[in-house]
Amino acid sequence: MGQQPREQWGTRAGFLMAAIGSAIGLGNIWRFPYIAYDNGGGAFLIPYLIALLTAGIPLLILEYSIGHRYRSSAPLAYRRISRPAEAIGWWQVAICFVIAIYYAVIVAWGVRYTWFSVGQQWGNDPDAFFFNDFLQVSAEPGMVSGFVSGVAWPLIAVWAVVLVVLALGVRKGIEKATKIFIPLLVVLFVLLVIQALTLDGAAAGLDALFTPDWSAMLDGGVWIAAYGQIFFSLSIGFAIMVTYASYLRRKANLTGSALVAGFANSSFELLAGIGVFAALGFMATAAGTSVDEVATSGIGLAFVAFPQIISTLPLGGALFGVLFFASLVIAGITSLISIVQVIISAVQDRTGMGRVQTVLLVGGATALASILLFPTPEGLYILDAFDHFINQYGIALAGLVMVLVFGWVLRKLPLFEKHASSISSVRLDWWWKIALGGLTPVLLGFMMWDSLRAELTSNYEGYPESFLLVAGWGIAIGAIVFGIVVACIPWKRADAIARHDAERAAAVPDGTAPVELEDPSRITASGATVPNSDQEGNR
Ligand code: PFF
Repeated sequence: MGQQPREQWGTRAGFLMAAIGSAIGLGNIWRFPYIAYDNGGGAFLIPYLIALLTAGIPLLILEYSIGHRYRSSAPLAYRRISRPAEAIGWWQVAICFVIAIYYAVIVAWGVRYTWFSVGQQWGNDPDAFFFNDFLQVSAEPGMVSGFVSGVAWPLIAVWAVVLVVLALGVRKGIEKATKIFIPLLVVLFVLLVIQALTLDGAAAGLDALFTPDWSAMLDGGVWIAAYGQIFFSLSIGFAIMVTYASYLRRKANLTGSALVAGFANSSFELLAGIGVFAALGFMATAAGTSVDEVATSGIGLAFVAFPQIISTLPLGGALFGVLFFASLVIAGITSLISIVQVIISAVQDRTGMGRVQTVLLVGGATALASILLFPTPEGLYILDAFDHFINQYGIALAGLVMVLVFGWVLRKLPLFEKHASSISSVRLDWWWKIALGGLTPVLLGFMMWDSLRAELTSNYEGYPESFLLVAGWGIAIGAIVFGIVVACIPWKRADAIARHDAERAAAVPDGTAPVELEDPSRITASGATVPNSDQEGNR
């Protein structure tokens, strides 16, 4: 197999665009507005900002530092830190697989709805249209029983786009695509917000969103919501940022990039809040009710409330619909690309297989799983259970384990602090270690405890026990087992890489100079190093 040197981003802006593209997703558009509204409105912005600064950005810096220092996918990077930590990496790979297969189908619905907006196909009952006519949802959750072709073909198209972008590679695929998609997304979304703000009742919507309820700040649940939103929204705990940072050049401004990505993501989130609530204000005013009656999030917001709003608009409904659903699709695709790349890069590092071959085999298998499972009458239930369990006991738990293992068990924070500070514009200090080693694990642990308590008192959504055992707990625990099992299988290339790392470390006198770690893609299974043919640029 021809060993290819590791790919690299073309420019810093390219990396940033990709990282921002990953962060801006459905979470920004359909999750943030309602979470903010429901947790104190304007007052929510304070816990939210504190969560961004004390946990979001510090964790982002940690993931960037790991990826950049070890220039490897998550499992290999963690293994290079400590052999058993590799299991966390494969666990995250499994989490990414689960999320990718269902997230893609939501993007596919968006594709269909962009088109439906033009003729307002949903008629005068968008709710019945979405669940009965479009998804053809079965009466009960259970095993898949049939195929819904109206969902299947846009899903195939979504996967085709994602796999082509990934096959083109980091620079020519991901970087190029996000450099087109993200500016386009911003333009479409700003137009949408402008149109929303001109609607009758927009002010009522904004009032409902921003009127602060200061008492919320004394409510622990509000703080949990703020930290939860920041983790999900910044794509932390998925290993996406470890993966993306592994393609950075040696000289890279890690902390500066984390600040830019963090604030860009939150700005978009705020913009989405304004657009969504202006539209909800219009909806409430048109129906003669309060915003309280119509405020919602997730699927209900995008595929029921928005179609209703579009149909109620006296003018420009089609345009409004196309802007909204196209934004949803673009935001979703760039996140989907990032999450599938986690899987691709891990398999590439492990097997030494080329990119195109890995995309065809592993990306193809991921797409197939998605296409077999979700365009079905039971697809929506499976999606809902996967989403709930993998978020609560996948991402959040993996994030917690990561900070505990790297911060407390292996005590690596000083190493990463030095690594990031030595190359970045903003230097890290004690505050970073306290935020990451102290505050973050306490909060994540608290979040975990809180949701586990709710889980054990009642079945999620009242779904049958047997269904939750498979599609809920089974998936969450299965991902952990997968991580441990794969990490236990011996791996020749990794041993060769470990030998290289040890030789490098031994060559550095008493650890005063930083150890320059070898790019793993240049080390073959036999331990030989492929000649350095990439141009280490100084951009
Ligand atoms: N930050 C993303 C969002 O807000 O939607 C989280 C995400 C979800 C990233 C799914 C990637 C993904 F495939």
